[in-house]
Amino acid sequence: MGKILVTGITGNVGREVAESLKKDNVQMVCGVRNVEKAQKQFQGEYEFVTLDFVNRETFDQALEGVDRVFLNYPPETPFNDFHAFIYKSKEKGVRHLTYLSVKDVQFLPFVPHHKNEKVIVQSGIPFTFLRAGYFTQNLNMFLLDELVKHDRIYVPCGKGKTSFIDLRDIAEVAAMTLLNPNKNQNKKYVLTGNKALDFYEVADIMTRVLGRKIFYSNPSLKEFKTYMMQKGYEAKYVNLVGGLHTFTKLGMAKGIKPDFTQITGRIPRTVEAYVHDYKAVWDKVVF
Ligand SMILES: NC(=O)c1ccc[n+]([C@@H]2O[C@H](COP(=O)([O-])OP(=O)(O)OC[C@H]3O[C@@H](n4cnc5c(N)ncnc54)[C@H](OP(=O)(O)O)[C@@H]3O)[C@@H](O)[C@H]2O)c1
Repeated sequence: MGKILVTGITGNVGREVAESLKKDNVQMVCGVRNVEKAQKQFQGEYEFVTLDFVNRETFDQALEGVDRVFLNYPPETPFNDFHAFIYKSKEKGVRHLTYLSVKDVQFLPFVPHHKNEKVIVQSGIPFTFLRAGYFTQNLNMFLLDELVKHDRIYVPCGKGKTSFIDLRDIAEVAAMTLLNPNKNQNKKYVLTGNKALDFYEVADIMTRVLGRKIFYSNPSLKEFKTYMMQKGYEAKYVNLVGGLHTFTKLGMAKGIKPDFTQITGRIPRTVEAYVHDYKAVWDKVVF
């Protein structure tokens, strides 16, 4: 058996995948743009190799001795570079790619994962697609600032429900697929929680657990875009995020699938459990 290459370890999902794999004592290497920075951040916990999807000269070394890859697509990465990495993986003998994708990707041609999945299939590398629902952790990532400063959830979703999934659960499935590639070969798993919620319901859960009133603002798409661009987000990103939330508003993101429980034998983490676990991140910062 060769090594598992984990990409995106300095990000949200990759970090949890590496953490999950570490428990199983596997041979693993983590591909990062800045090895020195990662070594400092993780203090000798992992082995690192330079990997930059936009620098093809890093590919050979990053894939040396690797036979399985956890592949995370960093938003905005040019397709030609990212796809060159996929084809190089094939050439170097990678025999399984676990790719983090997005739920309902087959209906979303404007989402980069739609194209990336097709290229992975074309490459001929056996794969597992993890088509993940809405990360519950969006509440402590891009929604954090508005929650801490204004006690509000600021997304243009109307009363649309979405199928939240805790990224710790995604990472657990990712690790299982990399440890048992044959069993998970060419599978497309749709990872959701076991209940779809709208953002009014999420605000109520947060209000209960945090002990202070959290509102759901429900801006229009136009208000959302204007506000996010005033905050300094780039138009391309705001349009993509706006588009995905409109999909939710139209009631198209609410589907729940049993895949997580079928694979792991347990029920996925609830939004309530997540808010308990992360409670401290929404504390008001007092200056
Ligand atoms: N948010 C959701 O609800 C949701 C749902 C389903 C799927 N997804 C998908 O999940 C993915 C994002 O996952 P995440 O939140 O874990 O990502 P993240 O926290 O934004 O991390 C991105 C990672 O990619 C690395 N990276 C960036 N550019 C790179 C490059 N050129 N070469 C190599 N590595 C590079 C970053 O490393 P550095 O330290 O070098 O910057 C970082 O480790 C996206 O593909 C998104 O579409 C999201």
